[in-house]
Amino acid sequence: MIDRDRQWRSLMEMAEIGATPAGGVCRLALTDEDKQSRDLFVKWAEEAGCEVRVDRVGNIFARRAGTDPDAAPVVTGSHLDSQPLGGKFDGPYGVLAGLEVVRALNDADTETRAPIDIVCWTDEEGCRFTSKTMGSMVFAGLLTEEQVRAVTDPDGNTFGDELERIGYAGAEPVGGTPVKAYFENHIEQGPVLEQAGVPVGAVVGAQGQRCFLVTVTGEEGHAGTVPMVQRKDSFLGAARMTDAVNRAAFQFDPVPVATVAHVRVRPNSRNTIPGETVFTIDSRHRDAGVLAALEEVMLGDIREIAENMGLGIDIQRTSLAAPVAFDDSCVAAIRRAAKDSGIACMDVFSGAGHDACKIASIAPSGMIFVPCEKGISHNEAENATPDDLAAGTRVLMGAVVEAANTP
Ligand code: HGY
Ligand code: MN
Ligand code: MN
Repeated sequence: MIDRDRQWRSLMEMAEIGATPAGGVCRLALTDEDKQSRDLFVKWAEEAGCEVRVDRVGNIFARRAGTDPDAAPVVTGSHLDSQPLGGKFDGPYGVLAGLEVVRALNDADTETRAPIDIVCWTDEEGCRFTSKTMGSMVFAGLLTEEQVRAVTDPDGNTFGDELERIGYAGAEPVGGTPVKAYFENHIEQGPVLEQAGVPVGAVVGAQGQRCFLVTVTGEEGHAGTVPMVQRKDSFLGAARMTDAVNRAAFQFDPVPVATVAHVRVRPNSRNTIPGETVFTIDSRHRDAGVLAALEEVMLGDIREIAENMGLGIDIQRTSLAAPVAFDDSCVAAIRRAAKDSGIACMDVFSGAGHDACKIASIAPSGMIFVPCEKGISHNEAENATPDDLAAGTRVLMGAVVEAANTP
Protein backbone atom coordinates (compact mmCIF):
# COMPACT_ATOMS: atom_id res chain seq x y z
CA MET A 1 0.00 0.00 0.00
CA ILE A 2 2.49 2.73 1.10
CA ASP A 3 5.00 3.08 -1.73
CA ARG A 4 8.39 3.68 -0.10
CA ASP A 5 10.15 4.74 -3.27
CA ARG A 6 7.37 7.03 -4.49
CA GLN A 7 7.44 8.85 -1.15
CA TRP A 8 11.25 9.12 -1.30
CA ARG A 9 11.14 10.48 -4.87
CA SER A 10 8.62 13.14 -3.84
CA LEU A 11 10.76 14.14 -0.85
CA MET A 12 13.85 14.44 -3.05
CA GLU A 13 11.99 16.45 -5.70
CA MET A 14 10.62 18.79 -3.01
CA ALA A 15 14.18 19.14 -1.62
CA GLU A 16 15.36 20.54 -4.96
CA ILE A 17 13.38 23.70 -4.21
CA GLY A 18 15.68 26.04 -2.30
CA ALA A 19 18.44 23.41 -2.33
CA THR A 20 21.69 24.61 -0.70
CA PRO A 21 25.19 23.53 -1.84
CA ALA A 22 25.80 21.36 1.26
CA GLY A 23 22.67 19.26 0.67
CA GLY A 24 20.13 21.18 2.73
CA VAL A 25 17.36 23.61 1.87
CA CYS A 26 16.60 27.30 2.40
CA ARG A 27 12.88 27.98 2.00
CA LEU A 28 12.03 30.81 4.38
CA ALA A 29 8.32 31.44 4.93
CA LEU A 30 6.56 33.41 2.16
CA THR A 31 9.65 33.65 -0.05
CA ASP A 32 9.65 32.60 -3.71
CA GLU A 33 11.07 29.22 -2.68
CA ASP A 34 8.18 28.74 -0.22
CA LYS A 35 5.80 29.59 -3.06
CA GLN A 36 7.43 27.06 -5.37
CA SER A 37 7.16 24.31 -2.74
CA ARG A 38 3.51 25.17 -2.14
CA ASP A 39 2.77 25.16 -5.88
CA LEU A 40 4.40 21.71 -6.21
CA PHE A 41 2.38 20.33 -3.29
CA VAL A 42 -0.87 21.75 -4.73
CA LYS A 43 -0.07 20.19 -8.14
CA TRP A 44 0.57 16.76 -6.59
CA ALA A 45 -2.52 16.99 -4.39
CA GLU A 46 -4.73 17.86 -7.36
CA GLU A 47 -3.17 15.02 -9.37
CA ALA A 48 -4.20 12.76 -6.47
CA GLY A 49 -7.77 13.95 -6.88
CA CYS A 50 -7.85 16.28 -3.88
CA GLU A 51 -9.87 19.48 -3.77
CA VAL A 52 -7.50 22.25 -2.65
CA ARG A 53 -8.51 25.23 -0.47
CA VAL A 54 -6.30 28.02 0.91
CA ASP A 55 -7.31 30.02 3.97
CA ARG A 56 -6.70 33.71 4.69
CA VAL A 57 -3.30 33.16 6.32
CA GLY A 58 -2.09 30.80 3.59
CA ASN A 59 -2.74 27.41 5.23
CA ILE A 60 -3.36 24.92 2.38
CA PHE A 61 -5.93 22.08 2.80
CA ALA A 62 -6.06 19.31 0.19
CA ARG A 63 -9.21 17.26 0.77
CA ARG A 64 -9.75 13.64 -0.25
CA ALA A 65 -13.54 13.24 -0.12
CA GLY A 66 -15.11 10.69 2.23
CA THR A 67 -18.41 8.88 1.74
CA ASP A 68 -19.97 11.21 4.31
CA PRO A 69 -19.31 14.78 3.15
CA ASP A 70 -20.72 16.21 6.38
CA ALA A 71 -18.33 14.27 8.61
CA ALA A 72 -15.55 16.27 10.28
CA PRO A 73 -12.27 15.61 8.47
CA VAL A 74 -9.24 13.77 9.77
CA VAL A 75 -6.38 16.18 9.16
CA THR A 76 -2.73 15.29 8.66
CA GLY A 77 0.24 17.40 7.55
CA SER A 78 3.02 19.72 8.67
CA HIS A 79 4.98 22.58 7.02
CA LEU A 80 7.11 23.25 3.91
CA ASP A 81 8.98 26.35 5.13
CA SER A 82 12.50 25.72 6.46
CA GLN A 83 15.33 27.15 8.51
CA PRO A 84 17.93 29.24 6.60
CA LEU A 85 20.27 26.22 6.58
CA GLY A 86 17.61 23.56 7.07
CA GLY A 87 17.28 19.91 6.14
CA LYS A 88 15.25 18.03 3.52
CA PHE A 89 12.84 16.38 5.97
CA ASP A 90 11.87 18.84 8.77
CA GLY A 91 8.33 19.67 7.67
CA PRO A 92 8.07 18.20 4.16
CA TYR A 93 8.03 14.67 5.56
CA GLY A 94 4.77 15.37 7.38
CA VAL A 95 3.11 16.98 4.34
CA LEU A 96 4.27 14.29 1.90
CA ALA A 97 3.45 11.43 4.30
CA GLY A 98 -0.13 12.70 4.17
CA LEU A 99 0.06 12.81 0.40
CA GLU A 100 1.45 9.26 0.27
CA VAL A 101 -1.46 8.02 2.42
CA VAL A 102 -3.90 9.57 -0.08
CA ARG A 103 -1.99 8.14 -3.05
CA ALA A 104 -1.98 4.67 -1.43
CA LEU A 105 -5.72 4.82 -0.68
CA ASN A 106 -6.31 5.83 -4.30
CA ASP A 107 -4.19 2.90 -5.53
CA ALA A 108 -6.24 0.53 -3.39
CA ASP A 109 -9.49 2.26 -4.38
CA THR A 110 -10.28 2.46 -0.67
CA GLU A 111 -12.90 4.88 0.59
CA THR A 112 -13.13 6.35 4.08
CA ARG A 113 -16.26 7.61 5.83
CA ALA A 114 -14.82 10.98 6.85
CA PRO A 115 -12.85 13.18 4.46
CA ILE A 116 -9.06 13.34 4.83
CA ASP A 117 -7.42 16.80 4.70
CA ILE A 118 -3.70 17.05 4.00
CA VAL A 119 -2.55 20.38 5.45
CA CYS A 120 0.46 22.60 4.83
CA TRP A 121 0.65 25.17 7.65
CA THR A 122 2.09 28.64 7.00
CA ASP A 123 5.39 29.69 8.63
CA GLU A 124 6.04 26.95 11.20
CA GLU A 125 9.73 27.81 11.64
CA GLY A 126 9.33 31.48 12.56
CA CYS A 127 12.88 32.38 11.48
CA ARG A 128 11.99 35.07 8.94
CA PHE A 129 9.13 36.67 10.90
CA THR A 130 9.43 36.81 14.67
CA SER A 131 6.79 34.22 15.66
CA LYS A 132 6.74 30.46 15.06
CA THR A 133 3.77 28.30 13.96
CA MET A 134 1.75 31.34 12.91
CA GLY A 135 -0.56 29.55 10.44
CA SER A 136 -1.59 26.84 12.90
CA MET A 137 -1.89 29.36 15.76
CA VAL A 138 -4.42 31.46 13.86
CA PHE A 139 -6.28 28.25 12.91
CA ALA A 140 -6.34 27.30 16.63
CA GLY A 141 -7.50 30.81 17.63
CA LEU A 142 -4.24 31.50 19.52
CA LEU A 143 -3.37 34.51 17.31
CA THR A 144 -5.61 36.76 15.18
CA GLU A 145 -5.28 37.27 11.42
CA GLU A 146 -4.61 40.97 12.04
CA GLN A 147 -1.77 40.24 14.48
CA VAL A 148 -0.13 37.87 12.03
CA ARG A 149 -0.59 40.02 8.90
CA ALA A 150 1.15 42.94 10.64
CA VAL A 151 4.29 41.00 11.68
CA THR A 152 7.38 42.18 9.78
CA ASP A 153 10.64 40.60 8.70
CA PRO A 154 14.03 42.34 9.34
CA ASP A 155 13.64 44.27 6.05
CA GLY A 156 10.24 45.62 7.11
CA ASN A 157 8.15 43.43 4.77
CA THR A 158 4.86 42.52 6.42
CA PHE A 159 3.54 38.95 6.58
CA GLY A 160 0.32 40.16 4.91
CA ASP A 161 2.11 41.79 1.97
CA GLU A 162 4.37 38.79 1.43
CA LEU A 163 1.41 36.40 1.55
CA GLU A 164 -0.32 38.46 -1.17
CA ARG A 165 2.91 38.65 -3.18
CA ILE A 166 3.29 34.88 -3.39
CA GLY A 167 -0.40 34.45 -4.18
CA TYR A 168 -1.41 32.47 -1.09
CA ALA A 169 -3.71 34.93 0.66
CA GLY A 170 -6.64 32.56 0.33
CA ALA A 171 -10.36 33.23 0.60
CA GLU A 172 -11.25 30.60 3.20
CA PRO A 173 -11.90 31.76 6.76
CA VAL A 174 -9.19 30.51 9.16
CA GLY A 175 -10.27 27.73 11.52
CA GLY A 176 -13.62 27.53 13.24
CA THR A 177 -14.31 24.22 11.47
CA PRO A 178 -14.46 20.87 13.26
CA VAL A 179 -11.47 18.52 13.11
CA LYS A 180 -12.12 14.86 13.98
CA ALA A 181 -8.43 14.24 14.75
CA TYR A 182 -5.04 15.62 13.70
CA PHE A 183 -1.93 13.51 13.08
CA GLU A 184 1.50 14.92 12.16
CA ASN A 185 4.45 12.86 10.97
CA HIS A 186 7.88 14.37 11.67
CA ILE A 187 11.51 13.36 12.06
CA GLU A 188 12.38 13.18 15.76
CA GLN A 189 15.09 15.86 15.59
CA GLY A 190 16.73 14.02 18.48
CA PRO A 191 18.72 10.80 19.02
CA VAL A 192 16.32 8.60 21.02
CA LEU A 193 14.73 6.46 18.28
CA GLU A 194 17.99 5.93 16.38
CA GLN A 195 19.84 4.91 19.59
CA ALA A 196 17.01 2.54 20.49
CA GLY A 197 16.94 1.13 16.96
CA VAL A 198 13.17 1.71 16.81
CA PRO A 199 11.67 3.01 13.52
CA VAL A 200 8.56 4.73 14.90
CA GLY A 201 7.81 6.91 17.94
CA ALA A 202 4.36 7.59 19.41
CA VAL A 203 4.83 11.12 20.68
CA VAL A 204 3.27 11.59 24.12
CA GLY A 205 4.06 15.28 24.56
CA ALA A 206 6.25 18.30 23.80
CA GLN A 207 8.22 20.83 25.85
CA GLY A 208 6.81 24.20 26.86
CA GLN A 209 8.55 27.31 25.54
CA ARG A 210 9.19 30.89 26.65
CA CYS A 211 10.86 33.14 24.07
CA PHE A 212 12.02 36.75 24.43
CA LEU A 213 13.30 39.69 22.39
CA VAL A 214 15.92 41.74 24.30
CA THR A 215 17.03 45.23 23.19
CA VAL A 216 20.23 46.54 24.81
CA THR A 217 20.89 50.27 24.34
CA GLY A 218 24.37 51.74 24.73
CA GLU A 219 26.10 54.61 22.90
CA GLU A 220 27.75 54.69 19.49
CA GLY A 221 31.32 55.93 19.71
CA HIS A 222 34.68 55.86 17.96
CA ALA A 223 36.43 52.51 18.50
CA GLY A 224 39.78 54.31 18.51
CA THR A 225 39.14 57.20 20.83
CA VAL A 226 36.60 56.31 23.56
CA PRO A 227 38.49 54.99 26.64
CA MET A 228 37.37 51.46 27.61
CA VAL A 229 36.08 52.57 31.02
CA GLN A 230 33.82 55.21 29.48
CA ARG A 231 32.10 52.98 26.96
CA LYS A 232 28.43 51.98 26.82
CA ASP A 233 29.02 48.97 24.60
CA SER A 234 25.66 47.27 23.92
CA PHE A 235 27.20 44.20 22.30
CA LEU A 236 29.54 43.60 25.24
CA GLY A 237 26.45 43.84 27.45
CA ALA A 238 24.58 41.37 25.25
CA ALA A 239 27.54 38.98 25.36
CA ARG A 240 27.56 39.01 29.19
CA MET A 241 23.78 38.57 29.19
CA THR A 242 24.11 35.58 26.85
CA ASP A 243 26.57 33.98 29.26
CA ALA A 244 24.12 34.68 32.11
CA VAL A 245 21.29 32.97 30.17
CA ASN A 246 23.47 29.91 29.69
CA ARG A 247 24.50 29.82 33.39
CA ALA A 248 20.88 30.28 34.55
CA ALA A 249 19.82 27.09 32.73
CA PHE A 250 22.32 25.01 34.71
CA GLN A 251 20.72 26.08 38.00
CA PHE A 252 17.88 23.65 37.23
CA ASP A 253 17.70 19.87 37.04
CA PRO A 254 16.83 18.45 34.54
CA VAL A 255 18.57 21.27 32.75
CA PRO A 256 16.26 23.36 30.52
CA VAL A 257 17.46 24.43 27.09
CA ALA A 258 18.10 28.15 26.62
CA THR A 259 19.46 29.55 23.36
CA VAL A 260 20.53 32.99 22.15
CA ALA A 261 20.75 32.63 18.38
CA HIS A 262 19.46 35.69 16.54
CA VAL A 263 21.52 38.86 17.15
CA ARG A 264 21.34 42.25 15.41
CA VAL A 265 24.06 44.81 16.17
CA ARG A 266 23.68 48.46 15.16
CA PRO A 267 25.48 50.03 13.35
CA ASN A 268 27.45 46.77 12.93
CA SER A 269 30.57 48.66 11.83
CA ARG A 270 34.01 47.39 12.83
CA ASN A 271 35.21 50.78 14.15
CA THR A 272 32.06 52.02 15.89
CA ILE A 273 31.14 50.96 19.43
CA PRO A 274 27.75 49.17 19.09
CA GLY A 275 24.99 51.54 20.18
CA GLU A 276 22.21 48.95 20.07
CA THR A 277 22.13 45.15 20.18
CA VAL A 278 18.92 43.13 19.83
CA PHE A 279 18.92 39.41 20.59
CA THR A 280 16.42 36.55 21.05
CA ILE A 281 16.18 34.00 23.86
CA ASP A 282 14.50 30.63 23.23
CA SER A 283 13.96 28.65 26.47
CA ARG A 284 12.21 25.28 26.80
CA HIS A 285 11.43 22.63 29.37
CA ARG A 286 8.82 19.95 29.95
CA ASP A 287 7.82 21.56 33.29
CA ALA A 288 5.98 24.91 33.16
CA GLY A 289 7.14 25.76 36.69
CA VAL A 290 10.79 25.41 35.77
CA LEU A 291 10.24 27.62 32.71
CA ALA A 292 8.70 30.33 34.91
CA ALA A 293 11.53 30.11 37.44
CA LEU A 294 14.13 30.19 34.67
CA GLU A 295 12.52 33.34 33.25
CA GLU A 296 12.83 35.04 36.63
CA VAL A 297 16.52 34.17 37.00
CA MET A 298 17.46 35.07 33.40
CA LEU A 299 15.62 38.39 33.33
CA GLY A 300 16.90 39.33 36.80
CA ASP A 301 20.50 38.71 35.75
CA ILE A 302 20.03 40.58 32.46
CA ARG A 303 18.64 43.65 34.21
CA GLU A 304 21.47 43.58 36.77
CA ILE A 305 24.11 43.48 34.01
CA ALA A 306 22.42 46.40 32.24
CA GLU A 307 22.35 48.38 35.50
CA ASN A 308 26.02 47.71 36.25
CA MET A 309 27.09 48.72 32.72
CA GLY A 310 24.84 51.78 32.43
CA LEU A 311 22.98 50.25 29.49
CA GLY A 312 19.31 50.63 28.57
CA ILE A 313 17.30 47.41 28.48
CA ASP A 314 13.93 46.40 27.05
CA ILE A 315 12.65 42.80 27.27
CA GLN A 316 9.56 41.57 25.36
CA ARG A 317 8.25 38.07 25.85
CA THR A 318 7.44 36.94 22.29
CA SER A 319 5.98 33.53 23.07
CA LEU A 320 4.72 31.53 26.02
CA ALA A 321 3.59 27.99 25.25
CA ALA A 322 2.71 25.49 27.96
CA PRO A 323 4.06 21.93 27.72
CA VAL A 324 1.74 19.76 25.59
CA ALA A 325 0.35 16.30 26.37
CA PHE A 326 -1.00 14.76 23.15
CA ASP A 327 -4.44 13.16 23.19
CA ASP A 328 -4.45 9.67 24.72
CA SER A 329 -6.81 8.33 22.05
CA CYS A 330 -4.48 9.54 19.27
CA VAL A 331 -1.38 8.14 20.97
CA ALA A 332 -3.18 4.82 21.48
CA ALA A 333 -4.28 4.80 17.82
CA ILE A 334 -0.66 5.29 16.76
CA ARG A 335 0.56 2.46 19.01
CA ARG A 336 -2.25 0.23 17.67
CA ALA A 337 -1.51 1.07 14.04
CA ALA A 338 2.16 0.24 14.57
CA LYS A 339 1.28 -3.06 16.22
CA ASP A 340 -1.21 -3.97 13.47
CA SER A 341 1.47 -3.22 10.86
CA GLY A 342 4.09 -5.26 12.74
CA ILE A 343 6.25 -2.13 13.18
CA ALA A 344 8.23 -1.60 16.40
CA CYS A 345 7.11 1.54 18.19
CA MET A 346 8.07 3.31 21.43
CA ASP A 347 6.75 6.35 23.29
CA VAL A 348 8.87 9.46 22.84
CA PHE A 349 8.75 13.09 24.00
CA SER A 350 9.35 16.02 21.67
CA GLY A 351 12.04 18.59 22.42
CA ALA A 352 11.02 20.54 19.34
CA GLY A 353 7.80 22.50 18.89
CA HIS A 354 5.37 21.63 16.12
CA ASP A 355 2.09 22.75 14.56
CA ALA A 356 0.52 19.75 16.31
CA CYS A 357 1.28 21.49 19.64
CA LYS A 358 -1.09 24.28 18.59
CA ILE A 359 -3.79 22.11 17.01
CA ALA A 360 -3.80 20.02 20.22
CA SER A 361 -5.59 22.95 21.88
CA ILE A 362 -8.66 22.53 19.62
CA ALA A 363 -8.71 18.91 18.42
CA PRO A 364 -7.48 15.45 19.49
CA SER A 365 -3.91 15.45 18.14
CA GLY A 366 -1.01 13.07 17.90
CA MET A 367 2.43 12.87 16.29
CA ILE A 368 4.40 10.05 14.72
CA PHE A 369 8.20 10.39 14.82
CA VAL A 370 10.79 8.57 12.76
CA PRO A 371 14.55 8.56 13.46
CA CYS A 372 16.92 11.03 11.83
CA GLU A 373 20.64 10.37 11.51
CA LYS A 374 22.46 11.17 14.78
CA GLY A 375 19.39 13.20 15.79
CA ILE A 376 20.68 16.04 13.59
CA SER A 377 18.17 18.67 12.42
CA HIS A 378 18.08 22.42 11.65
CA ASN A 379 21.25 21.51 9.81
CA GLU A 380 21.94 20.77 6.12
CA ALA A 381 23.22 17.32 7.08
CA GLU A 382 19.73 16.27 8.32
CA ASN A 383 19.05 12.77 7.01
CA ALA A 384 16.54 9.90 7.30
CA THR A 385 16.12 6.53 5.56
CA PRO A 386 13.43 5.61 3.01
CA ASP A 387 12.52 2.57 5.14
CA ASP A 388 11.99 4.51 8.39
CA LEU A 389 10.04 7.22 6.53
CA ALA A 390 7.83 4.56 4.93
CA ALA A 391 7.30 2.80 8.28
CA GLY A 392 6.13 6.08 9.80
CA THR A 393 3.76 6.66 6.89
CA ARG A 394 2.38 3.12 7.17
CA VAL A 395 1.54 3.83 10.82
CA LEU A 396 0.01 7.17 9.80
CA MET A 397 -2.20 5.38 7.27
CA GLY A 398 -3.47 3.02 9.97
CA ALA A 399 -4.20 5.82 12.44
CA VAL A 400 -5.83 8.12 9.86
CA VAL A 401 -8.06 5.41 8.31
CA GLU A 402 -9.17 4.15 11.72
CA ALA A 403 -10.06 7.70 12.83
CA ALA A 404 -11.83 8.43 9.53
CA ASN A 405 -13.96 5.29 9.78
CA THR A 406 -14.84 5.57 13.47
CA PRO A 407 -18.15 7.42 13.90
O1 HGY B 1 11.56 25.58 17.00
C1 HGY B 1 11.10 24.46 16.83
O2 HGY B 1 11.00 23.69 17.75
C2 HGY B 1 10.62 24.01 15.48
O3 HGY B 1 11.55 23.12 14.96
N1 HGY B 1 10.44 25.11 14.57
MN1 MN C 1 9.29 21.08 11.82
MN1 MN D 1 12.10 23.04 12.44
